[in-house]
Amino acid sequence: MYRRVITYGTFDFLHIGHINILRRAKDLGNYLVVALSTDEFNRLKHKQSHSSYEERKAIVEAIRYVDLVIPECSWEQKIDDIKKHKIDIFVMGDDWKGEFDFLRSYCDVIYLPRTEGISSTMIKLGLSKEL
Ligand code: CTP
Repeated sequence: MYRRVITYGTFDFLHIGHINILRRAKDLGNYLVVALSTDEFNRLKHKQSHSSYEERKAIVEAIRYVDLVIPECSWEQKIDDIKKHKIDIFVMGDDWKGEFDFLRSYCDVIYLPRTEGISSTMIKLGLSKEL
């Protein structure tokens, strides 16, 4: 079985939810591409990451489940990414459920349950799990 997987995200303040989704994404195949939101794309999404693209790229590349990090620069690039990297499965957290079903003409689309109680925003705001 040779299955190439792709997922998208900002991956700022790396946390256990990120590791869980990357591990489970990789488990679905044997080659994982992470499309990492650039700082410019984050600005477009009205998101400001703590770490720069280059720093986040170095961090995500160091994760053993990740084979390749590519830049995510626009909402529209997904079909091109899927074709270029010969992707079999597109994976996102279920906060995006249904949003990317249109990609099913190109590859499988799977939404994995998010890890409860943690997000980059929570870390940024200094919120504890109890809150
Ligand atoms: N993710 C997850 N579980 C969490 C947080 C994130 O499974 N607790 C997943 C998201 O669903 C997404 C990927 O990790 O598929 C990257 O998410 P990202 O937006 O970078 O992280 P968040 O922690 O959700 O960041 P923010 O708080 O800025 O939305």
